[in-house]
This record gives sequence, C-alpha cells and structure tokens, in this order.
Amino acid sequence: MKKLIAGSLMLAVAIAAAGVCAAPAVMPAPRRLVEKEGVFVCKGAAVAAARYETDSSIPREGYRISVTEKGIAIASSDAAGRFYAVETLKQLESSGRGVTRVPCVEIEDSPRYRWRGFHLDECRHFFGKEVVKEIFDLMARYKLNRFHWHLTEDQGWRIDVPGYPELVKYGAVRPASVKHGKRAVKGSKADADKLNGVKYGPYFYTEADLREIVEYARERHIQIVPEIELPGHVYAALAAYPQYACCPENLTERTPRLVWGIEKDVLCLGNDEAIKFMENVLDYVCRIFPGDVIHIGGDECPQVRWQTCPKCQARIKAEGLKDHHDLQPWITRHFVKFLEARGKRALGWDEYLLGDIPKSAIGMSWRESRSGAGHELVSGAAAATRGHDVVMTPCSYCYLDYGQGLKDDPFFYIGGRVTLERCYSFDPCAGVPEDAKSRILGGQGNNWTEYTWNEFDLAWKAWPRMLALSEVFWLGEAKPGFADFLRRAEVHRSWLVRHGVNCAPLK
Ligand code: ACM
Ligand code: ZN
Repeated sequence: MKKLIAGSLMLAVAIAAAGVCAAPAVMPAPRRLVEKEGVFVCKGAAVAAARYETDSSIPREGYRISVTEKGIAIASSDAAGRFYAVETLKQLESSGRGVTRVPCVEIEDSPRYRWRGFHLDECRHFFGKEVVKEIFDLMARYKLNRFHWHLTEDQGWRIDVPGYPELVKYGAVRPASVKHGKRAVKGSKADADKLNGVKYGPYFYTEADLREIVEYARERHIQIVPEIELPGHVYAALAAYPQYACCPENLTERTPRLVWGIEKDVLCLGNDEAIKFMENVLDYVCRIFPGDVIHIGGDECPQVRWQTCPKCQARIKAEGLKDHHDLQPWITRHFVKFLEARGKRALGWDEYLLGDIPKSAIGMSWRESRSGAGHELVSGAAAATRGHDVVMTPCSYCYLDYGQGLKDDPFFYIGGRVTLERCYSFDPCAGVPEDAKSRILGGQGNNWTEYTWNEFDLAWKAWPRMLALSEVFWLGEAKPGFADFLRRAEVHRSWLVRHGVNCAPLK
C-alpha cells in the first residue's frame, strides 16, 4: 500500500475532486453504519491501506471498520469476519484520477444467520466449474457462505465415484431433454414430441475438479454442502446400476429420466447391495468435502415400488416395520448414523423428517403444503419445535426458478411467482415459536434448473433476487426496508452487469 503522501500536489487535486462520496451502497446493508465527514484517499487498493486487529468480543463472522481521513482500521474475531470486512471495504471504495477514495464511516456488522445459502441444481442442466467459481465470487461479495450443490438426480449424475465407472458412463448423459420452452412431465409416448433429440453430456465432475472447487470455496469462506439424493430421485444412478432398483426391468434403456417430474422407480431398500452402493458414494463424498454437513435428499419419494417389491417387503418384516411407509424413516435413520460416524451431520428436505428421526438430523423446509409426492407436511416451525435444526427455504420466497414478475421477461420459468419484493419480505423465523427460533440456522435461494438452460438464464433468475435474500440472511428483522434496498440494489445491478453477470432488472 502506498499511503497518502502529504503535500503531494497531485493527491491534493485528487482529494479536492473527490468531493462528497455518494451515500454508501453496501449490500447486504451493515448492521450499523454511521457516515462521517471526510474521505480517506490513498494510492492502490484500500484493503492494502487498512490496519487489521483481532478483537475477541466481536461476534463470529462479524467485523468493525473505522475509516477516517487518516486511515482505515479493521477489527474482527475470526478470519471470516476479516474477510467480510474486506468485502465491505471493496464496496465502499471508488477509484479515479490515480487514487482510491473511501468515505469516512464507522461500521459494526455481524450476521443474523449462520446459514446464508445459494443452491444450484447441476443435474437438470449442467453449468461447469468456471460458472460455479463465478458464483462463489459473487457469494463472497454478498456474504453468502453455504453452497448447496445438487449433484445427483433422476435426470443426471454429476460426480465420478471411484469403483463405480458406470455412474458417469450412463448417468451423466441424456440422449434427449425436454425441448426449450416446453413442459413434459409424464415421460409417456404422448410426450415424445416434446423431446429435443439432442444428446446432453456426458457432463460430470472428476475428483480433481471437485478438489479444485472445494479449495476455491474455502478461500472465500464458503462451505460446500453436497447433495446425494436418496431414496428417491436416483433414476440416473439406477440407469447405471439397474440391479439397485425394485424393478430393474423398467431400466433396460439405461438412460437417465428424460423429462422432468417425479420418478416412481427409486432405490430398492430391500437390497443390501443398493444400500452398500449409497454408503460407498457417501463415504467418498465425506472424504472429498471437508464441511460438516452432507445433504441426503429425501424429498418426493413415491413408495409404490416398495409396496409390491418382494425384497422391500422382506425388509419390512425383518426390521419389524409396520409397512412400506416406514421404509423411508428406516433408511434415513441408517444414513444419519452413517454420517455421524464420519463426523458429519445429515441434512435433508422436509419429507425426510417424517417418522422417528434422530434430532441431530437437520431439516430443509421447502414445502408450504402437502405437495410433491403427497407426504404429510413437516413445516420448518414444527421441525424446529421438535428439536431439529432447520434451514428455511420455502418455495414461495426462495425458489428462484419461479417467475419474477418482470414485464416482457425473455426467460421461461417453472411457474409460480417470487418477485424481488417477495424475496426481500422473507422472514426465516416467521411462525416459529420463540423458544425454537435458535434452531433456525438461516436460509438459501434455490436455483432449480429444469427450465434454466445456461449461465445467462441462471444469472437472470438468481440476480437480483439473491441480493434480496443475502440481506434477509445477513440482517434478519434488522433489514432496513425494501425502498432502501432498492436504492442500493440499483448500484449493485449496474456493478453486476458491468462485470458480465446477466442480472435481471429490479422490476
Ligand atoms: C424440491 O423442490 N423437490 C426439494
Ligand atoms: Zn425393493
């Protein structure tokens, strides 16, 4: 850092030209920001000019910044707090005429929620590691710290797992997909005219890719939460290993599911080999991803195959279960314990909390009614009251594949409507009893990709709504209000567009 050299004529001119800085447009808004008279001016980046210190009284991930005309002081109690202070400083600084200017401010900041997530489905459509890294750069800028990576599905399997070469051979490539702009959910012959006949893939991540991405995330204080779906949404794996299905004869084509919607062929829970397969996959995933949480899916699992499968029926008998409805809680208990033995906590969509599930299991609340495969609803509030930690991601606030209510929107959505204002109005603790609120870890924006074809489509749907959610997760009820958010969001949209992100307009 080259500090201001007193008496330098050039800098004196620059300071005079700096005038009054525009009102700071930090996103998410800091918890407390007091504007002061004056501007700090230096050569080079402001972050290099700052003094850094440790103050153990500052909450985790929090920080303090003091900018005066004489200098910049930053304090935090941990590395994440220091990292976020730098991100804030980068948003405050502006440069021109050979100098960097930072308005004088006092900031005290810390997050309301520890889980501030961005979810990406790479199975319906695949984006690749460069796009994922760009997402991490933006997550860091907006203080998002969990990347929920949906890696396995009916329509695609996206990681190469040692010992299971068929997974990517069969599971990572589709001979066709639903035509752009069409909806096809049944997979019946009547829907064949809605398929595009275009080979999709093979698309998957190698171990080297995964390690590279894990490191990129670590450097940005982002924890990757990989998701391996079970016992439903496994059709791409069954295409690779039909013997793990209740009805292998349904999988003779050896292709992932070509259309969207809920698949009835699921993992055979009567087959020890099928369970061993999932254990081996999860064992590998535990070794690759250093975070303490692994997502095991659990949503939308039809049970019809289990009802008639002799192996599943034998399992029900052997385990003393009541009927096929008890199989999902049985397998959930198994994998919660399996992960615990490897030092990890299980996370799953709200359906997986049905039944007698250990309290250490974390729920991810997405449904607001008895939807999907029709399983009884366990709301986020109910799960937290029962003693589960919960990540809130209700579809009517957090599903970014829903329409955003823009005029003449060129992109195609799955349906529904989640406007920017709706995202901003989200309160993860709404309806949660006071004594269970501490169990709400936070939330995330979910980027499902059935109707999201490429990175431009993805960016349009994610931004600016992720800006609104970033403020919700960072500040909770302390957020300053939608009008204030819009003023700052306009500045950030310009920044995003200038940096090549296909951010949608605010309205
Ligand atoms: C989900 O949207 N099926 C979790
Ligand atoms: Zn079975």
